[in-house]
Amino acid sequence: MTTPTVVLTNNKGGVGKTTTTINLAYGLCQSLKQAGAANPRVLIVDTDSQAHATLTATGSKDYTRHNSLCAVLGADRKETTEVLSRVIVASHWLPELHVIPASAELEATERELFSTPGAPYRLADALSVIRHHYAAIVIDTRPSFSLMTEMGLLAATDAVITLEPRYLETVGLQSVINKIYEIREGWRHPDLRLSGVVVTKFDRRVKGHQEMIESLRQHPNLGKLLCGIIPANEAVAYAHRSHLSVYAYDPTSTASEAYAQMVGWMLKRLFVKEAV
Ligand SMILES: Nc1ncnc2c1ncn2[C@@H]1O[C@H](COP(=O)(O)OP(=O)(O)O)[C@@H](O)[C@H]1O
Ligand SMILES: [Mg+2]
Repeated sequence: MTTPTVVLTNNKGGVGKTTTTINLAYGLCQSLKQAGAANPRVLIVDTDSQAHATLTATGSKDYTRHNSLCAVLGADRKETTEVLSRVIVASHWLPELHVIPASAELEATERELFSTPGAPYRLADALSVIRHHYAAIVIDTRPSFSLMTEMGLLAATDAVITLEPRYLETVGLQSVINKIYEIREGWRHPDLRLSGVVVTKFDRRVKGHQEMIESLRQHPNLGKLLCGIIPANEAVAYAHRSHLSVYAYDPTSTASEAYAQMVGWMLKRLFVKEAV
């Protein structure tokens, strides 16, 4: 079985991609450890030059083009293994949770790659070298469908869309779904499946939020993919500021509980290959 590789995607910013990436990755790693898995290792790949996932999970964002994803994408095939072993760092949360850090120079690297044949497959090719070392990989993407995001989608087996519970978000949802299908059909990456939809910053007191959840639930295809409803909860912002996962910041917070539920759902989806 190929290592499940989840990409968090939505071309809009501020919809919880990074928050979901780090808390999903941490939750998967912790759950695999608690279950006594022989290999509980999980890898976060940060493809966003803002490096928020990197900062939160490693405590630093001082990575350069030499010790970040930039180096991995720029490496010759025969150097890839050596570059990966140099670039991958352990998170400061769990020794089994690793990170390929982003760097502010990722956009320059991306521009350089535009004219390189096979550029969109660079991340997939690099990850194929180390995939077997990990139980799961989680990829954070930037808020655009740039070449970098296409690389993330082409390296993934499972796409998870995060969105806020507003009307316009659901309109935008269709364009994200179209992009996933374009990658799957147009780019011949049939292994990519749309595996989940996560609603973040949900406020049960807002009628429009409840209506949006209800219409997602009723949706013939998306209803069964609704894998998490994460409440708006200030513990998330405080956790980010303290460079902690939300579970470590406050395991009893509503967001922690909702992310833990989502992790349970994803474990089944990724490892039991449950038909949903
Ligand atoms: N459930 C939540 N409750 C409250 N704030 C949240 C929640 N999820 C995310 N945030 C905050 O919203 C902002 C954007 O979240 P982020 O995960 O960075 O989105 P994206 O990666 O899609 O741009 C961050 O400041 C984050 O702390
Ligand atoms: Mg982000």
